[in-house]
Amino acid sequence: MLDLGCGSGYHLGRFAATARSVLGVEPHPDLCALARRRTRRATNVEVRQGVAQDLPLTDASVDVVHVRWAYFFGPGCEPGLTELERVLRRGGTALVIDNDPTRSTFGRWFRRGYPTVDPDAVERFWSTRGWQRRVVDMGWRFGSWEDLAAVVRIEFTPETAEAILAEHRAAGGALEVDYAVNLWSRDY
Ligand SMILES: C[S@@+](CC[C@H](N)C(=O)[O-])C[C@H]1O[C@@H](n2cnc3c(N)ncnc32)[C@H](O)[C@@H]1O
Repeated sequence: MLDLGCGSGYHLGRFAATARSVLGVEPHPDLCALARRRTRRATNVEVRQGVAQDLPLTDASVDVVHVRWAYFFGPGCEPGLTELERVLRRGGTALVIDNDPTRSTFGRWFRRGYPTVDPDAVERFWSTRGWQRRVVDMGWRFGSWEDLAAVVRIEFTPETAEAILAEHRAAGGALEVDYAVNLWSRDY
């Protein structure tokens, strides 16, 4: 099992509970260090520094690839797809999770923050390459307005974040935000 762009390793321990072996690949050395620290007690987890375009793995060595919000955003990620094809065993599966800007409160915020992302072009990119789309409705739930604001300020530029927060507060300031994502998958 490969978690590609694993960040600080949030998912690695959960995958390790059922997978024979789990590999996290992540470009940033500081995040690799955090991921290794987080999983230090798991004997079936390894973290390697690397990028999707040049995976530090041998050919046909992986059964499942999971990618959440990392590099595979549609047009432009072709070099990473070539690498997925190389490292996945025949019969393996790749799963890519990305935002769905066409639906949900967060989707609307995302369109405002990233107006150049064309959802139709992204959809065409995946479907013409044989990937299946499953729509998933999830959400954020915060304990306080300050926590919500802090996360919005991570996700968007200062100007966009403040505009979103002002509008959201004026609409009641709900601490739950509905958030639509696409789960793209393909069997190899
Ligand atoms: C939004 S974070 C998501 C982290 C993790 N997948 C998660 O869901 O919590 C995006 C991650 O993608 C990584 N990343 C950026 N460029 C990448 C690339 N070319 N190949 C692989 N990972 C990349 C970043 O370093 C970061 O850890």
